[in-house]
Amino acid sequence: MLVEIPSLLNTEQAAALHERLKAASWVDGRVTAGYQAAAVKNNAQLAEDDPTARELADSVLRALERSALFMSAALPLRVYPPMFNRYAEGQAFGTHVDTAIRSIPATPVRVRTDLSATLFLTPPDEYDGGELVIEDSYGAHAVKLPAGHLILYPAGSLHDVRPVTRGVRYGCFFWVQSMVRLDSDRTLLFDLDTAIQSLARGDAGKAVTVQLTGIYHNLLRRWAET
Ligand code: NI
Repeated sequence: MLVEIPSLLNTEQAAALHERLKAASWVDGRVTAGYQAAAVKNNAQLAEDDPTARELADSVLRALERSALFMSAALPLRVYPPMFNRYAEGQAFGTHVDTAIRSIPATPVRVRTDLSATLFLTPPDEYDGGELVIEDSYGAHAVKLPAGHLILYPAGSLHDVRPVTRGVRYGCFFWVQSMVRLDSDRTLLFDLDTAIQSLARGDAGKAVTVQLTGIYHNLLRRWAET
């Protein structure tokens, strides 16, 4: 399931973060890549122990804690400390799958990466290319969102970042270990929660009936023996 979290940061918050990143000191992005990903990764990152990176990462974590949509979609158990990347003109990240288990530096904590997340930080009119392309069984989805918007996607899916052909693209990325391991289970719970929220607000139209019917049949398909 791909879930967009609009305005995780508002325009001013995203712009402030963007300015801080422009002035930060960047290192080769391959430092955190696994063997296969390192061969196709060409970007820059903030070092994980960089004080600016830590401060900005904390501000992203606080925004995640405030987002009911993120909580409902990810059902997070652990969030890997957010990191920051920069793609200058000509840079890209070829097709790869994210590493399954990540150790949080300087801690004994390991995170199973169920979900990957990208928070877009550069306004889309400031760069060309740089789309995040996520493949699933329905094909390839190119994602390029306004600054401050987040996309959540299964960490096990093939994905890449297309070459930036103009400007510079800044982003924040991290992984989530969910309390619910399987994407299909999480999707059912998210759909159910979305329907409940809609009914509770009193703005449920016909679409909520369709949604609930879908959940019923998907559970029946899972549990029924014939
Ligand atoms: Ni990746």
